[in-house]
Amino acid sequence: GKVAVMFGGLSAEREVSLRSGAAVLKALTDAGVDAFAFDPKQQSLAELAQSGAQRVFIVLHGRGGEDGSMQGALQQLGLPYTGSGVLGSALAMDKIRCKYLFQAQQLPTAPFAVVHHDDTDFAALLASLGGKVMVKPANEGSSIGMSAASTAEELQQAVKQALNYDSEILVERWINGREFTVAILNGQVLPIVEMRTPRAFYDYEAKYQASSTEYLCPAPLSAEQTAAMQRSALKAFNAVGASGWGRVDIMLDQDGQHFLLEVNTVPGMTEKSLVPMAAKAAGYSFQQLVVAILGQSQE
Ligand code: DAL
Ligand code: MG
Repeated sequence: GKVAVMFGGLSAEREVSLRSGAAVLKALTDAGVDAFAFDPKQQSLAELAQSGAQRVFIVLHGRGGEDGSMQGALQQLGLPYTGSGVLGSALAMDKIRCKYLFQAQQLPTAPFAVVHHDDTDFAALLASLGGKVMVKPANEGSSIGMSAASTAEELQQAVKQALNYDSEILVERWINGREFTVAILNGQVLPIVEMRTPRAFYDYEAKYQASSTEYLCPAPLSAEQTAAMQRSALKAFNAVGASGWGRVDIMLDQDGQHFLLEVNTVPGMTEKSLVPMAAKAAGYSFQQLVVAILGQSQE
């Protein structure tokens, strides 16, 4: 049957989604699937219901697409969709609730605080988290609204900046180390990708614009370290109730301890994105990856 590839949308990650979705649509079309583009910014769900689509491939990133709300709407329309359901999507979108769930499962994650205002005692907060922190809007993606801080003034600025995107802000102890991601596809953990950037962290520019970002896959890690991180990633994915496919981001500090950052239920799917890179190392072409994700779509 006909497949609606949903991409674009209204979140701050619209531009990324347009790139991911175009790549997915092309791969499906090349694979002989009867697929068409559906952008919720341009079209109503009533039009989707009348389009003859029998399934939806969700390639929307961020709020309104990755957070469970669209998943709930599609369920009401009786349209099966790819990836996580309502609960897993909503929990994974929220970096703070992700961390509560990691803690409940004794999974490693950096110490943190939750801030709602820019009039907190930032000096005390900073000291309690070791003197350097990462500040993140709870419900964003692609590092939008994120910044690092190592003085009380910087922290206040970082919180103000993050408050432009969300009313709940995650302030996390800074992990000095290497950045990795673990892709999961239909219950299978794929080879780990390491991201190396000369920038302060793997931010929006390092992700999508800089040519200086290096990717290593499979990541140069010992077999034990690889297995430990893959195990944590799969547990984290299950802890938030995610399903189908996704990506778990992890830091590794200089003492060899790893820390879970978050779960992404609709990770980037441009030809250069991380899940396609991990899939390639596991022997799946981009087209095979897309078809495998579609194959798992559920009511
Ligand atoms: N939020 C971006 C799209 C990612 O996780 O890849
Ligand atoms: Mg994310």
